[in-house]
Amino acid sequence: MRKAIIAGNWKMHLGLREAEALLHALRASCETDVIDVVVCPPFTALAAAAKILAGSSLGLGGQDLCWEPQGAFTGAISPVMLRDVGCRYVIVGHSERRTHFGETDEIIHRKLRAALAHELIPIMCIGETRQEREQRKTFEVLTRQLAGAFRDCERWDCARVVLAYEPVWAIGTGTHATPEQAQEAHQFIRQWLVKRCGAPIGDAKRIQYGGSVTPANAASLLQQPDVDGALVGGASLKSEAFGAIVKAALDVKAAGRPAR
Ligand code: PGA
Repeated sequence: MRKAIIAGNWKMHLGLREAEALLHALRASCETDVIDVVVCPPFTALAAAAKILAGSSLGLGGQDLCWEPQGAFTGAISPVMLRDVGCRYVIVGHSERRTHFGETDEIIHRKLRAALAHELIPIMCIGETRQEREQRKTFEVLTRQLAGAFRDCERWDCARVVLAYEPVWAIGTGTHATPEQAQEAHQFIRQWLVKRCGAPIGDAKRIQYGGSVTPANAASLLQQPDVDGALVGGASLKSEAFGAIVKAALDVKAAGRPAR
């Protein structure tokens, strides 16, 4: 039985005071051991977040990392630093990193390896653009991104990664994938993993959906047999909205999901 994981990606939002207020509110409303709940604030709020969340069930994650543990990499944050500040998770390969910062499959592969080498749980993002979907290249793109990221990875390493299917056309647009579209992509990703790593790892892999998840659509997405959580952007900046998505995941867990 896969444990659902709801993660909030705050992106480049919130000053320190606002971040602290949100973290206190989340600590009060999102504590649970039934599913995993993770917050990924900007780097500037990580130290404060670690203090506020200490002793709670909420996990802390970075939004990016460098592939090197230290060195002359102006502006970058290393996996060692993320561990040091209290992170257990790190987002890798978000489409905004691919688009705005030129991250290639090769860079993402190195970041994934670095996260794993330093015992961080990568939340690895993959997903197609609108044009790629329209050209019916979704599976081809997912295959390329998966093969690139997991190149040379041991099966055991693959097992430690959380995947996030985030169609680029759904991120920040208000247009989420339909539950059927999400299920189709998640099932494809799982089958790819089963082939690459064997059934025990593929079947146990947690695959989040991301892209305009809100309290209104969370339940229908999370009810899909291969959707094991959500990576939430905009709606993670408000405690009520994020709390409602966490509650939707708990409700789905309590009611049970249909088998595929
Ligand atoms: P969104 O972002 O929920 O605002 O669409 C999701 C993400 O980028 O992870």
